Amino acid sequence: MLTIDEQQEIEAQYPRYATKQGASVEALKIVQRRCGWVSDEDVKEVAAFLDMPYEELEGVATFYNLVFRRPVGRHTILICDNVSCWITGYRAIRDALITRLGAELGETTADKRFTLLPIPCLGACDHAPAMMVGLDLHGDLQVDQIDVILQKYE
Ligand code: FES
Repeated sequence: MLTIDEQQEIEAQYPRYATKQGASVEALKIVQRRCGWVSDEDVKEVAAFLDMPYEELEGVATFYNLVFRRPVGRHTILICDNVSCWITGYRAIRDALITRLGAELGETTADKRFTLLPIPCLGACDHAPAMMVGLDLHGDLQVDQIDVILQKYE
């Protein structure tokens, strides 16, 4: 059930868009803050609140990489899996993360601390290879930086 605060926060987005359905991505992000991901029930409630078909909002939720449709760890690691990063060391960074975390791409660590996810491009190609941990961008990555970066996130 959407909280009153969530409803008000979603409604506060309406002036930014031509229709209230235009606020659908922001609405999903607002709801995601509650549990770190968006359940089917959440999608139904947001769709009803925005007067839009469930299937349409589900399509939006599935399309956006930063709307998580399954439970995730306390911190999400989005590792860029695209061409600039491929040619600047993606594979070594990915393998180091998988080894340190004991989790493959798409998985959450056993302690629920991290979820490791690939993303097509972080828009930081000039600092490839790059990844985001939560909202923090880490670029120009070297394998020997991985442990220090991960230690910042409990
Ligand atoms: S290709 Fe990796 S940040 Fe753009």
